[in-house]
Amino acid sequence: MAKNLVQKILEAHLVSEKGEWTPGKEIAIRIDQTLTQDATGTMAYLQFEAMGVPQVKTELSVSYVDHNTLQSGFENADDHRFLQTVAAKHGIHFSRPGNGICHQVHLERFAKPGKTLLGSDSHTPTAGGMGSIAIGAGGLDIAVAMAGGAFYLNTPKVVKVELKGKLQPWVAAKDIILEVLRIMTVKGGVGKIVEYTGEGVASLTVPERATITNMGAELGATTSIFPSDENTRVYLEAQGRGGDYSPLAADADATYDEEIIIDLNTLAPNIAQPHSPDNVVPVPDLHSQKIPVNQVAVGSCTNSSYVDLMRLAAVLKGKTVHPNVSLVVSPGSKQVFEMIARNGALADILASGARILESACGPCIGMGQAPSSGAVSVRSFNRNFEGRSGTADAKVYLASVETCAAAAVTGYIADPRELGDLPNVEMPDQYLIDDRLVLSPSEQPDTVEVVRGPNIKPLPVNTELAEALTAPVSLKVGDNITTDHIMPAGAKVLPLRSNIPAISEHVYVRVDPNFPSRAKELGKSVIIGGHNYGQGSSREHAALAPMYLGVKAVIVKSYARIHRANLINFGLLPLTFVNEADYDAIEQGDEIAIDNLRGQIEAGNELTAKNVTKGTEFKVTHDLTGRQIDIILAGGLLNYTKSQAV
Ligand code: F3S
Repeated sequence: MAKNLVQKILEAHLVSEKGEWTPGKEIAIRIDQTLTQDATGTMAYLQFEAMGVPQVKTELSVSYVDHNTLQSGFENADDHRFLQTVAAKHGIHFSRPGNGICHQVHLERFAKPGKTLLGSDSHTPTAGGMGSIAIGAGGLDIAVAMAGGAFYLNTPKVVKVELKGKLQPWVAAKDIILEVLRIMTVKGGVGKIVEYTGEGVASLTVPERATITNMGAELGATTSIFPSDENTRVYLEAQGRGGDYSPLAADADATYDEEIIIDLNTLAPNIAQPHSPDNVVPVPDLHSQKIPVNQVAVGSCTNSSYVDLMRLAAVLKGKTVHPNVSLVVSPGSKQVFEMIARNGALADILASGARILESACGPCIGMGQAPSSGAVSVRSFNRNFEGRSGTADAKVYLASVETCAAAAVTGYIADPRELGDLPNVEMPDQYLIDDRLVLSPSEQPDTVEVVRGPNIKPLPVNTELAEALTAPVSLKVGDNITTDHIMPAGAKVLPLRSNIPAISEHVYVRVDPNFPSRAKELGKSVIIGGHNYGQGSSREHAALAPMYLGVKAVIVKSYARIHRANLINFGLLPLTFVNEADYDAIEQGDEIAIDNLRGQIEAGNELTAKNVTKGTEFKVTHDLTGRQIDIILAGGLLNYTKSQAV
């Protein structure tokens, strides 16, 4: 049967039984490569250490430092040192601060066609530009993959995006993905993988393809992918990695679940308006309005490749940044930075009045360069959610490097085609290859001591599920509790992500400041909640920190999907009321008992619980799959994975 590219790669990596391709059905795949960045990596490596596996079992694992590169206190610096030493000890490559943004560097130096890559960052799909199946996931999933465990996902629907024709001058790869976002919206990719095909593919270089797959994350897609072809070979040769090339394409008569056609011949420059990446209009629609711009930022894992920066330099050469605009530029990697420094393009950028930042995420993650109050900021980045820039009322637009450059020199949102002839910029025949900032793992791992500064605390690990549960209710909350209620973010809390005892002092403090001390005093407890419990982000600390405080089970009316998965991963029993009215009868402090807990879970979906204080009985359900039951019985995914490895 004819297969699309996604089916070919996923089926080659299946570790679960090979059956019919049924979208929505859970499958398990083998992971070839992993990557982490520092903001999520500390937890992933603490979890990996806890599994007791001495060396990673993947073909390649890389730890990057690119997010929290500001060192205004010891915490981030402690994290970097921990990451460096833990990598050396366990067979992981370490990309030092200054070497660049994880996705840009991974594309340049490590990504390979046909491989699976799992990364603890949502823009891991960047490597789809190389023909990898590259998926973003939580830290614990990465730790399991490094230990040799499978990654579980639902069989995706595959969306074919056919690119017809050829991009016209001043129209860029970024304009293609903005067009896809306009069509599919930020929710349109959920449960899907986007596969690019058509004659237009041949006119896009690998870094341009990577811009498109990078921002596929904004579609909510599992990932996006391009075929591996002659352009892939040329790019890999230029990176001194010709040996990593292999051709890959969908069969000619492959079928897809959905199809979209984009005509590159007629595509105009696009721009995403505040405050969503899918709020896209053609730049000409705004050109006549002459919207004044206060800041332009070029960089991020979306648009900071060599050609991106060369195009910027070519536009800026001999011009001056508009006096009302602050132009900030962060090259995506040391490779890009050094190449533009050596060939003089950096001098053209500097001479125009731009401000140069280090090769890191920088303003994309709110590490400096917050715009002024109410400012308009035009960025080559991938996200423009309200407040992400660090300024609550800033209006952030997302556009190509070409449109950013036009805004920088004119001072307003301008159609770059009005700038005249497009300066010619080509991909280099040979990139500058210098991997000294990537440290190889130690050849004598036993001699490496993992350095744990005061910000690195041992990872608490749950115990097997007890035979019976008797525990008081430490907290009763209502509907729509978010992960922000459970585990707040913010400058005070974020640096504590590798320090669970310290971060757990912040659990539920926005709801009840006494919760952490009360839960600790009780030793073990149960939380009662309403509908949509745990909505919001995927942050795993919202399950891990309550687990540290002794929460054994959560009983609610309904869950948000990702938080429920995180509760299971950390061995907290996620139960649901059969009769919602039973919620009303429970008060904080009541003692809840479930006899023969393990036996009841294994016997079926419904369990009988008692409110010992009130002398009543009520029914709850667990809705766990067979695999999830095993994880819960083992006390979480860490223990489960360890038991599987033996
Ligand atoms: Fe970094 Fe922003 Fe990409 S935070 S990994 S540059 S989305």
